[in-house]
Amino acid sequence: MELEIKHLKKRFGAAAAVDDVSCTMHQGVYGLLGVNGAGKTTLMRMLCTLVHPTAGEITYNGRDIFEMDAQYRNLLGYLPQEFGFYPDFTVEEYLSYISAIKGLRPAVAGKRTRELLRQMGLSEVRKKKMKKLSGGMKRRVGIAQAILNDPEILILDEPTVGLDPNERIRFRNLISELAHERLVLLSTHIVSDVEYIADQILLMKDGRLMHSGTSEEIVAAMEERVWNCVVSHKEASECMRRYKVANVKPAQEQLMLRVLSAEKPMADAVELEPTLEDAFLYYFGSPAQEFAKGGEHHGLL
Ligand SMILES: Nc1ncnc2c1ncn2[C@@H]1O[C@H](COP(=O)(O)OP(=O)(O)OP(=O)(O)O)[C@@H](O)[C@H]1O
Ligand SMILES: [Mg+2]
Repeated sequence: MELEIKHLKKRFGAAAAVDDVSCTMHQGVYGLLGVNGAGKTTLMRMLCTLVHPTAGEITYNGRDIFEMDAQYRNLLGYLPQEFGFYPDFTVEEYLSYISAIKGLRPAVAGKRTRELLRQMGLSEVRKKKMKKLSGGMKRRVGIAQAILNDPEILILDEPTVGLDPNERIRFRNLISELAHERLVLLSTHIVSDVEYIADQILLMKDGRLMHSGTSEEIVAAMEERVWNCVVSHKEASECMRRYKVANVKPAQEQLMLRVLSAEKPMADAVELEPTLEDAFLYYFGSPAQEFAKGGEHHGLL
């Protein structure tokens, strides 16, 4: 199985949402990481034939996916970012309905639905109405509907939004299981969602693929770019203006900063072992603004 993207571009008016993206994917898990507006959804919608590229092509085993048309879509499962459902349908009714839309024969559909409810841990809520489910349960139903037709290619757009930490762990295990015989592409802006399960990580920014590789490769490229700097409060503000700072920790009268920089930021800076989180911030963060936002991974003052 080979899904190949060549010089793909999608323009909306003057702006390019996806700009000259090329990459080749096989069986396994691909994690598409990027901040809001990076172009992840647009790229995925093209991979699902829902949006036509302005330029470039996508082929599956050498054939153009838009020419393959329904034949390609039969191989495809998709969880959209904005996942629509029918609030008064029960989980079971909803999955039967989607099975019918996907053209599954009723006997096959019934068996497959039961199988999936079990696999997804949804058997107990199968008679519950969709509107009564928790966010995590709804996401699970979303994934279930995407794999009803046992697709070779599974595209999940921000599948972990709204999941609690336990659900995230369950989700990661599920994806690893699903990827056994499939190509799974999932988008997220949470590094830990893909750090351990993605075979390849694709870092997307402003419509472009900035960097791709295994988690280890991306981390290795950060060597000699992560520094521990112990500074006074005054020096810290200056440092945060100049550099991307991944973390700040009080150290007696001073502050300990985790500085991301290609050059040694100060003479007594000590090199630290990089993480994927560092890489994400290094490529996507902007110095003071990232800090001011105080995201979940920043130890603030
Ligand atoms: N239908 C559209 N018409 C006009 N502009 C669009 C359309 N869809 C997306 N865009 C623009 O393209 C860019 C990329 O959007 P896209 O939704 O692909 O990003 P994203 O990485 O999925 O972001 P998010 O993390 O917020 O979901 C944005 O600037 C967005 O405003
Ligand atoms: Mg999106």
